[in-house]
Amino acid sequence: MEKRELLYEGKAKALYTTDSENLLVQYFKDDTTAFDGAKKEKLEDKGVINCAISTKIFEFLEKNGIKTHFVELLSPREMLVKRCEIIPVEVVVRNIAAGSFSRRYGVKEGTVLKEPLTELFYKSDELHDPMVCPNHVYLFGWASREELAFMIKEALKINELLKNFFNNVDITLVDFKLEFGRYNGEIILADEITPDSCRLWDKSTGEVLDKDRFRRDMGKVVESYKEIYRRIMERYGE
Ligand code: C5P
Repeated sequence: MEKRELLYEGKAKALYTTDSENLLVQYFKDDTTAFDGAKKEKLEDKGVINCAISTKIFEFLEKNGIKTHFVELLSPREMLVKRCEIIPVEVVVRNIAAGSFSRRYGVKEGTVLKEPLTELFYKSDELHDPMVCPNHVYLFGWASREELAFMIKEALKINELLKNFFNNVDITLVDFKLEFGRYNGEIILADEITPDSCRLWDKSTGEVLDKDRFRRDMGKVVESYKEIYRRIMERYGE
């Protein structure tokens, strides 16, 4: 497999074509952004840790029947992924109130929701990822009714699997964001699952271990990501 040219560069990752038209290289950068890129910093080794965490999570999900774009880890910052057509709808799953949910609805951060909540956002930097409802998704043709129903069902299944995955390493899964893509007539999980895209709190102390440390200038961002990875490897490493 040969890495060819840069296809797309996002805020935290880049995608490269390969000599196979169905495969891409997903490269994890150290760049860390928040508030639509208004806050930006390079955090040494963040890309390596995120690539490693995402790999362990994709492998775990695949083992549990979730189809993902992950093929294999190529190097500390690079994974081989299936080239799918990304659906521009972010699916957020929440177990505990935090972040934009707390702000939007005035619910105290940390309030346990009585059931997992799914929310949809239109993936658009220019429009600042506006929240949308299913009718927007159909009207704008981003996904069909069947596709969206599948994405939401799959997101809730992933939530149950990941709640358990993190609970086993004494971490509470507060919320997370997923992206899906079309590949060979199927919908598969794409993008990444990392502390950049999830809220993760230490189960016993409540300590924030995710990107909120960066958003809120709490310091020790990479150290916290490393701690998550350490616990995952201790429990799930070969
Ligand atoms: O900001 P908000 O509370 O809506 O975020 C919910 C979850 O989705 C958080 O875990 C956040 O890190 C993640 N997210 C993301 N990318 C976005 C928006 C949210 O990874 N563009």
